[in-house]
Amino acid sequence: MKGMILYYSKSGTTEKLAKRIQQDLACDILKIEPEDPYGNYFSSLARVGKELKNKVPVHSVTEVPDLSGYDTVLVGYPIWYLEAPAFVTDFISRCNLAGKTVIPFATCGLANISSTLDTLKRVCPKSEVVHPLNWGIAKKDDYEEWIRAIR
Ligand SMILES: Cc1cc2nc3c(=O)[nH]c(=O)nc-3n(C[C@H](O)[C@H](O)[C@H](O)COP(=O)(O)O)c2cc1C
Repeated sequence: MKGMILYYSKSGTTEKLAKRIQQDLACDILKIEPEDPYGNYFSSLARVGKELKNKVPVHSVTEVPDLSGYDTVLVGYPIWYLEAPAFVTDFISRCNLAGKTVIPFATCGLANISSTLDTLKRVCPKSEVVHPLNWGIAKKDDYEEWIRAIR
């Protein structure tokens, strides 16, 4: 597998997981950054709530990478209001992922990555979205089994 990890992390949990995956797969990694960085937990909660309610478009400042040399793209994000952050979804929609395998991983509290998958599949309709890894406080999938399956 020739893999690239694209991820966002506000407070470090997803980043820690992304770096563990990078080490285990020996693949490349790129952080997706929002135009306007999010602040602490409570201000982010309020801001994201407003952005969702008012359908505010949120973009990323990260340049879309050339992914032509990769067959697998891992997409990592914290779950915000049961979805991937909007600028992450926007960034993914601008990547050329046609024909590639997309492997999502998400960190959260009590939510589950399953609630984010329909949106992710919608923005990369020509990819195979498989092997999602849920890394929540309430439920963590078996990491070792997952890494063996995607290797
Ligand atoms: C704006 C915002 C919304 C969140 N919404 C949810 C949610 O709907 N469900 C959940 O389980 N956790 C939610 N969380 C918690 C994060 O998903 C969790 O803390 C995550 O692991 C943070 O990852 P990070 O450290 O990589 O930023 C939310 C956190 C923030 C800041």
